[in-house]
Amino acid sequence: MQDAAPQVQYLSDYQPWPWLVRAVALTFRLAPRATRVAARLDLAPNPARPGRHDLRLDGEGLRLIRAAIGGVALDVTPDATGLTIPAAALPQGPFTLETEVEIAPEGNTALEGLYMSNGMYCTQCEAEGFRKITFYPDRPDVMAPFRVRVESGLPVLLSNGNLVAQGPGWAEWDDPWPKPAYLFALVAGDLRAHRGQFTTRSGRKVALAVWVRPGDEGRCDWAMESLIRSMRWDEEVYGREYDLDIFNIVAVDDFNMGAMENKGLNIFNSRYVLASPETATDDDFARIEAIIAHEYFHNWTGNRITCRDWFQLCLKEGLTVFRDQQFTGDMRSHAVKRIEDVLLLRARQFREDAGPLAHPVRPGSYVEINNFYTATVYEKGAELIGMLRRLVGAEGYANALDLYFARHDGQAATIEDWLKVFEDATGRDLSQFHRWYTQAGTPRVTVAEDWDGGTYTLTLEQATPPTPGQPVKHPVPIPVAVGLLNPNGDEVVPTTVLELTGARQSFRFEGLAARPVPSILRGFSAPVILDHDRTDAERAFLLAHDTDTFNRWEAGRALAKQVLARMVTDNAAPGPDWLAAVERVLLDETLDPAFRALCLRLPGEDDMAQTLHTAGLTPDPDRIHAARKRLGDRLAQHLAPHLPGLYEALALPGPYTPDARAAGARALRLAVLALMTRIDGGTRAARAYAAADNMTDQTGALACLIEAGRADAELAAFARQWGHDRLVMDKWFSLQSALAAPAGAAELVAGLTAHPAFDWKNPNRFRAVIGAFSGNHAGFHRADGAGYRLVADWLIRLDPLNPQTAARMSTAFDTATRYDADRRGLIGAELARILAVPGLSRDMTEMAGRMLA
Ligand code: PHE
Ligand code: ZN
Repeated sequence: MQDAAPQVQYLSDYQPWPWLVRAVALTFRLAPRATRVAARLDLAPNPARPGRHDLRLDGEGLRLIRAAIGGVALDVTPDATGLTIPAAALPQGPFTLETEVEIAPEGNTALEGLYMSNGMYCTQCEAEGFRKITFYPDRPDVMAPFRVRVESGLPVLLSNGNLVAQGPGWAEWDDPWPKPAYLFALVAGDLRAHRGQFTTRSGRKVALAVWVRPGDEGRCDWAMESLIRSMRWDEEVYGREYDLDIFNIVAVDDFNMGAMENKGLNIFNSRYVLASPETATDDDFARIEAIIAHEYFHNWTGNRITCRDWFQLCLKEGLTVFRDQQFTGDMRSHAVKRIEDVLLLRARQFREDAGPLAHPVRPGSYVEINNFYTATVYEKGAELIGMLRRLVGAEGYANALDLYFARHDGQAATIEDWLKVFEDATGRDLSQFHRWYTQAGTPRVTVAEDWDGGTYTLTLEQATPPTPGQPVKHPVPIPVAVGLLNPNGDEVVPTTVLELTGARQSFRFEGLAARPVPSILRGFSAPVILDHDRTDAERAFLLAHDTDTFNRWEAGRALAKQVLARMVTDNAAPGPDWLAAVERVLLDETLDPAFRALCLRLPGEDDMAQTLHTAGLTPDPDRIHAARKRLGDRLAQHLAPHLPGLYEALALPGPYTPDARAAGARALRLAVLALMTRIDGGTRAARAYAAADNMTDQTGALACLIEAGRADAELAAFARQWGHDRLVMDKWFSLQSALAAPAGAAELVAGLTAHPAFDWKNPNRFRAVIGAFSGNHAGFHRADGAGYRLVADWLIRLDPLNPQTAARMSTAFDTATRYDADRRGLIGAELARILAVPGLSRDMTEMAGRMLA
């Protein structure tokens, strides 16, 4: 059956559900093709929605076996999206509704609802997957305690909450904390536990376990240590304790996203759990630590306090990302973490905000909510929390959070509730700040300076470009952290936060002896694009002298972009300022090696394309690629005398450890190796590959060899060594896809898709090949459209099986407006081809439609 026109959901239509769910009891009899789910719901009229109502339950793909109210069978037939029981058939007061349905987890390739992965049963219910398990009011504001009985011949049977009873072939779980259905989870399989223990500060003993497939037990230590650190941190920093006797984490190979915060039973993509020095890189270790923390922190920000509706998704995601960023900063380095977060924000969120998919942090409408798990909701959402904290101060923030937990525990809340808490705790009026949640687009802040011999004036102007559906923009409050330096490099005005609330404002600094050099937007104090004309020399000065580490890096970055932009547009040679400034940073041993490695990193090609487009130019992917290569080669020549010595000096003694200090040294050493490869063509990298005793060094050297075009032997050896390991082979695929030389990349990637190990139904593998290729800027944007065609072909193939993952990856096409008419035409044609596919999913229809609009 073909769907009618896609239904648009509107925030303004919100109404509470007419019933309260007092309790849920579920029984699962698991079987691959015919699982039975019996549900008992205790319902009572919701005083917030008086009157007589039909009882409407969500349900998709469920075969109804029976339904009864108060033990009396009902004669009802479900439609395509649910089940309606007419008001006339309902008792007046509280009643019990029983249903039983049959589902087939084995055939569930969408990985939403109850599905199977390598013989193991697991669930994914956020956002609207529970309706594929049983008939239920599948909306986050309906919260209820769940009791779950699982029957299966498999040895390990898990669900949310505490284990209350078990016997051969069954287990019963009870979750006393009322929760929305999207936090429900069930797992059954032949799994092994890596166990741990945590005692909360009030003395509750919590049994911890990381559950994995047999053979993976040895790769769980890091996840467990990260979990324990997260639990302690949330107590110390936010005063939040864990609230059950059990906390389980399960690793699953087939998973659409990173991980899921189901109450007491987090389910993870196995790539964010499993780690050993031989198989995981430093980045993997860092990501595992961050994602374990993120999911754990959701227990309070997301689970105990959840969202009223999916428009409020940023309420839990923005806040939880902000919390995991703070945690990583505390565990590692705040400066390095901030730089990495800003790199990601610009690459993903600024890009989104600048194109056809731009939407507010709190959208006002959607067709498919799965399409709104975006960089804007997550990363920009986190930036808004950071700005709030900057505006009210650390103490105001702590008070507001205490009030938030006290006032809204057990509730499904809104962004208005969230801001009200800040207003009540701090006395600030946040009505203008509210705009940050409802207005899409990245504000541009233009800086003008004036010096009259004694007074220094900064004039800041803000403007946000129009975005789809929002032609007119209003000023938002922007905290601009500023410091002033003397020409000799001393700081004369320490960091002050200027609040830009109007379209244009001037800020005066009196009593200065000399014209200062301003350091603006320190710590990246707001998610804006700063327009400030500065000379190379000024930027080099800030890279050398700024007291704000973020802005030191930022000055170097802006300088590199300025240099690279000139190389792209007029074939200019890189000027001396940048080379000398990078050299000084590289050789400064007082600086954190991780920071130095970041300063050596060249701006990415997609970043350059976006930057040129923002400056009103049309980026040419081939020219950007060529210029970036020349820039890297020039840098390598300039630094050549230092490289071998540095490479030796940065070698770490002793066995591999995943801590931030060691990881930073390895990162710098590999950056040096990459520069040496530009000179020696890979001689040193081949030796480094052969000598590598950990995955960071192994893939680092392999990447150098691929870029040098001489990795054949090592790629073959890598596949022989790691062919048995799915997660490691993902790296083998993605490195080749991402780094293939642009001219032949589409063909090379097509070859990878013909590889017997290209299991395209596995989302990780699909992302490793197709996703990595769409990040190969010049390869994907090849002028003949071969890159576009390849990606579109695969999206069309994946869509009927796994619409969520296919739709997410269609964002590869969201930058068409940057490019020339030919490329725009080619991208438009691919999107039109996708849109014309009969039976295209709602997910993909919405995405392709928005990108074509
Ligand atoms: N809520 C998850 C997180 O942010 C992400 C997720 C969304 C996972 C939807 C699965 C499906 O941690
Ligand atoms: Zn989250």
